[in-house]
Amino acid sequence: MAKNEQDVEQELPPPRNQPAMPEGFRQLKTQVAGHTFEDSNTEAVGLLQDPTAGCVLKPMGKPECGERELRFYESLAAAGASGDNDLALLRGHVPRFYGPLKLVVNQRERTFLRLEDLTRGMSQPCVMDVKMGKRTWDPESSRNKRKLEEAKYVMCKQKLGLCLPGFQVYLPKENEHPKETKILRHGKDYGKSLSVEGFKQTMVLFFNASDSKTKRARTELLLKEVLRQLQEILSWFNSQRLLHFYASSLLICYDYSRMDQSSKCQSLLNGHHIKEDHPTNWVRVKMIDFAHVYPAEEALPDENYMFGLKSLIDVVQSILHR
Ligand SMILES: Nc1ncnc2c1ncn2[C@@H]1O[C@H](COP(=O)(O)OP(=O)(O)OP(=O)(O)O)[C@@H](O)[C@H]1O
Ligand SMILES: [Mg+2]
Repeated sequence: MAKNEQDVEQELPPPRNQPAMPEGFRQLKTQVAGHTFEDSNTEAVGLLQDPTAGCVLKPMGKPECGERELRFYESLAAAGASGDNDLALLRGHVPRFYGPLKLVVNQRERTFLRLEDLTRGMSQPCVMDVKMGKRTWDPESSRNKRKLEEAKYVMCKQKLGLCLPGFQVYLPKENEHPKETKILRHGKDYGKSLSVEGFKQTMVLFFNASDSKTKRARTELLLKEVLRQLQEILSWFNSQRLLHFYASSLLICYDYSRMDQSSKCQSLLNGHHIKEDHPTNWVRVKMIDFAHVYPAEEALPDENYMFGLKSLIDVVQSILHR
């Protein structure tokens, strides 16, 4: 069984063969999807974390994909400081980019993209990677690659324009002290077998939205904040005619520890905590994975991405209004 297919009751144990890592860096424990370290293959590299800088480091994988993603982030950085064009506006919806960095991992020098860690500051990070669009192959894909992509995650992808390569969530332990939690982690095998109904149920689980009276107000706050951030991304897509995103994801992150009612009471009692308690501090929804971003064909909107995004908004709305 793959490491991330397990239900775990506590932090995942470190893999048996720790990759050789430069000082100050470690594996990104909250990575829920994508290419990861493998015990038996030192060439396989996943994301690293630089906890003091609040960064993650994404390895530049296949040359053309890594280069495309680097060019994407560089073009955003060059898009002008005023933030008044579509490319500059997109900066608000993606992790901050701190440039490429060469590091020796497992005795080999590799180039990494340094990105804002979307889970930084979260003590109990819940993370979900949602891949967007019915079509996940890019314009340069071979017939074979198209066929492979079309055979994956069939149910959710075709009906919702969404697929679920992985997630982790903190949940309260049943029948035990309310402060005790367990982590549930699932990888792509789980997502591949999901029906539309199963996808919706998984979202309920991920947002800790099953009928627990104690947390209802916090769940509502969480869902409203996720919706607000999703709507902002949708309004960017409504106006832009520059780019089409294939096999790109939304990363939804929130801190379970902030779901606790007591932190809210604390902030009400103590004026200076109110700002800190604002959901923008513990809920983050950003676009990630730009290995397959292309100029928009015929300057058309990215209907493929928008179809998935609208159905994700519908699912979250249906949970909020249950
Ligand atoms: N900026 C970030 N902050 C926190 N976690 C991240 C960030 N970027 C990626 N991750 C984590 O790493 C996982 C994989 O990221 P990503 O999709 O960019 O890589 P990949 O699928 O391996 O890339 P590629 O398709 O380019 O080979 C995500 O699901 C998420 O858990
Ligand atoms: Mg990915």
